[in-house]
Amino acid sequence: MLNTILPEDLSVTYGLDSARIGSRPMVERRLADLRGCFADEGAYDAALAVANPLLYAVTAVEPSAGDGQLHYGLGILYPGKIGQEYFLTKGHYHSYRPAAEIYVGLSGSGLMLLEDEGESRLATLGKNSCVYVPGHTAHRTINTGDVPLVYLGIYPSNAGHDYGAIASRNFRKIVVERDGAPFLADR
Ligand code: F6R
Ligand code: ZN
Repeated sequence: MLNTILPEDLSVTYGLDSARIGSRPMVERRLADLRGCFADEGAYDAALAVANPLLYAVTAVEPSAGDGQLHYGLGILYPGKIGQEYFLTKGHYHSYRPAAEIYVGLSGSGLMLLEDEGESRLATLGKNSCVYVPGHTAHRTINTGDVPLVYLGIYPSNAGHDYGAIASRNFRKIVVERDGAPFLADR
């Protein structure tokens, strides 16, 4: 098994400023890619009329797809708000629903919004904090600070990403700034 792993997948060096890993491709999500995610559609359209900023980027490291193997993604989510709602990732379920994930916060400060069919919960993600995302749970990352939030997400190689389920029902809760602090509100 070991001899099937490329040397460049065995150990990587990353930068906290850009979350780049060498010249590997990053999946980039700009404001225009997040239509429907933010609750205040008027504020979204107004912001998009002015600019289409990069909200987040992820570099995936996928050394092996074999049974029992792990993949991980290095993500950077920039600070900002649409209306009162903090910048966020699209969020997803794993296609293989039982697949759990561990998020390791590297720098910055934020939250993860976790939802299953019955419950919505917030978990702190940032420098010095980790989040365990159970299987069968939709998860979204939110930057509540004023510097980039950088994190690793480590997941089974067979997890897959299902964006459709969350795009059609959306998260039930939103995280907005209220009185200068993050507040979990109904959508
Ligand atoms: C992988 C994972 C993360 C996200 C990343 C971007 O399972 O949860 O690496 O892919 O935070 O968020 P999405 O994929 O929701 O655009
Ligand atoms: Zn995930």
